[in-house]
Amino acid sequence: MMADIEIAAKWVAEARSVVVLTGAGMSAESSVPTFRDAQTGLWERFEPEHLATEDAFRADPSLVWTWYVWRSMLIDTAIPNAGHTAIGAWQKHLAVNNGSLTVATQNVDDLHERGGADDVLHLHGSLHNYRCLECSRPAAFDPRAAGIRAEREFDEDNILEPVACPHCATGILRPGVVWFGEMLPQDAFSSAIHALQQADLVLVVGTSGLVQPAASLPVIGQEAGAKLVEMNPVHTDLSNTADIYLKSTAAAMMPQLLDELLA
Ligand code: OAD
Repeated sequence: MMADIEIAAKWVAEARSVVVLTGAGMSAESSVPTFRDAQTGLWERFEPEHLATEDAFRADPSLVWTWYVWRSMLIDTAIPNAGHTAIGAWQKHLAVNNGSLTVATQNVDDLHERGGADDVLHLHGSLHNYRCLECSRPAAFDPRAAGIRAEREFDEDNILEPVACPHCATGILRPGVVWFGEMLPQDAFSSAIHALQQADLVLVVGTSGLVQPAASLPVIGQEAGAKLVEMNPVHTDLSNTADIYLKSTAAAMMPQLLDELLA
């Protein structure tokens, strides 16, 4: 009998149209904390409603601003792991072999791009984009150019001032991430659905599947006929629905899954 990893590797070798859906677990081995993992998850230490909503930002702009700037600095010091680079190499392999691979991520980091993936769909926005809270116009902000240092720990005693919008007189900059209660970027979301409807293989890596609507995407692909493979060291609600559940981490298992294809 073939082991699950061997069957999944066979599907990988046969697939021409692939969607990889990722969550915070994808970047965990790059030392970027996840949200809901016991002890290490960000939402274990901080309340999402205090930091990840527009109301929270309006109530305490300095605190919420500092939290996002801190996370963007953390990401700048992180490096893509073997899982990110394997996905980037797989996308390139398919592109030169009459296939395609779409990465749709809930992550607000840029580790997929730095791991070699192109055209990544950021379902929850990006920590490196900013726009005005009032006039919504995009604006550049570089924490390093502003003299802010990367701290390993979030320091609530070392709070930053919000930054004024360069376009309008009244606004301050907000991070270009999706907060609770907000719509997902419609282009990214509809591109993900379109790719899922064409896919013959959907691979879900490192998401708890607890946040909608992103959590509904894997099954859209499966219902449209794709094989569904999940990779996660911890069993999730999707694990029984998936055609194959690979109980492992992204950096350990992605290279193994692609070993023969990319050899
Ligand atoms: P979660 O923190 O909810 O889930 C992380 C998942 O990654 C868990 O299922 C872990 O078991 C798994 N995991 C941990 N380490 C891993 C590893 N090395 N390799 C593979 N998997 C690993 O993160 P998300 O599902 O991404 O939204 O959370 C979804 C959304 O909730 C986030 O985008 C964020 C958050 O609130 C917003 O901020 C809008």
